[in-house]
Amino acid sequence: MKIIAEYPNPPQICRVIVQDGILQQIGRIVKRLKPSQVYVLTNTTLRKLYYGKLQESLSQAGFRVHPLLVIPDGERFKSLDSLRYCYDRLINYKADRESLLLTLGGGVITDLGGAVAATYMRGIKLVHVPTTLVAQVDASVGGKNGINHTRAKNIIGSFYHAQMILVDPQVLETLSQRHYLNGLVEVIKIGLVSNPGLFSFIQNNIDPLLQRQKKTLLKLIVSSIRQKLEITTTDPQEQGLRKILNFGHTFGHALETKSNYTKLSHGETVSLGMLVALKLSVDLKLANVKLLRMVQSLLQVAGLPTQIKRVDIRQIWEIMYMDKKAGYGRINFVLLEELGKPILRAVNFQDFKRAIEIIS
Ligand SMILES: NC(=O)c1ccc[n+]([C@@H]2O[C@H](COP(=O)([O-])OP(=O)(O)OC[C@H]3O[C@@H](n4cnc5c(N)ncnc54)[C@H](O)[C@@H]3O)[C@@H](O)[C@H]2O)c1
Ligand SMILES: [Zn+2]
Repeated sequence: MKIIAEYPNPPQICRVIVQDGILQQIGRIVKRLKPSQVYVLTNTTLRKLYYGKLQESLSQAGFRVHPLLVIPDGERFKSLDSLRYCYDRLINYKADRESLLLTLGGGVITDLGGAVAATYMRGIKLVHVPTTLVAQVDASVGGKNGINHTRAKNIIGSFYHAQMILVDPQVLETLSQRHYLNGLVEVIKIGLVSNPGLFSFIQNNIDPLLQRQKKTLLKLIVSSIRQKLEITTTDPQEQGLRKILNFGHTFGHALETKSNYTKLSHGETVSLGMLVALKLSVDLKLANVKLLRMVQSLLQVAGLPTQIKRVDIRQIWEIMYMDKKAGYGRINFVLLEELGKPILRAVNFQDFKRAIEIIS
């Protein structure tokens, strides 16, 4: 399946190909971009799992194989140190402006690789080969890249589009169920805020999706990439529409920060955050309670958390306020009027406190 997206600002064409086994054809495909050299950025886990196949494909296409850019596995390596390591390697190899950086990995690698490609020599060619569901449907799509500072997540970065995103659903076979569910949460979110058909598709196919049945999963990946592309090509730099993708993330992010990225995964906090946002929507008389119940039961069936043991409401509020304050003691939340109809609302502490009941 081929999808071509055109970004108006900055002007750029991004080709997305979703195909089982595409990993073995990457050399031939990226040759069309006429790079002077290909540099692969990956982590230690993906190197063991898939770099062999990729390397073979690059060699067959006639690319001289350079030593890799490899970082250790983990969110904490989406860092300034890793960025510096990548620059050092590229300079050592005398990488020029026609070089291509090819990322092989999850969102950590695509975010870091995007930041490297955007800034090395003011921009080199970039191709993503995302290997987690999160990276395939979300992180690699839309041009946002970034790294973490020790005191703030994703605080350094830019918008820079890949020329190609090459998605091989087959690689998801080795992904843990927890990381797989992280991706499913993001697709549920995209469906809820912008595509009722996609949401219904997930509802109707939840069992095959949980079992990663090939055909259903392929359909899910293609539909969510299309939907994310539609939103991000309309609003390439997050001036308006794109903010709807923050649904469930205001609370989710704060919870993630509070638990210091250790206990709950990103997807798990977003699952809870979506329920809080839906409860707020109901309490503020925007949405019908049926919508809340429908999402709650889907998340439960998927095995995602819908309850949390203890939550320091005041502290979470403070963290969110730092991040998303609207002024006058209120925080901006993306809420829903109905399926596919998001609305931005400033919420006060009392409303938030009441909404938390849904997950506690
Ligand atoms: N730029 C964006 O728009 C955007 C959107 C969403 C998320 N993100 C970022 O993405 C990151 C999260 O991405 P993620 O969830 O992919 O995490 P990740 O990159 O840490 O990958 C999760 C784990 O899965 C392993 N893995 C990856 N592919 C595998 C495979 N095929 N088989 C087995 N193991 C595999 C990784 O080594 C890692 O241990 C965060 O840093 C987040 O900020 C960015
Ligand atoms: Zn997210």
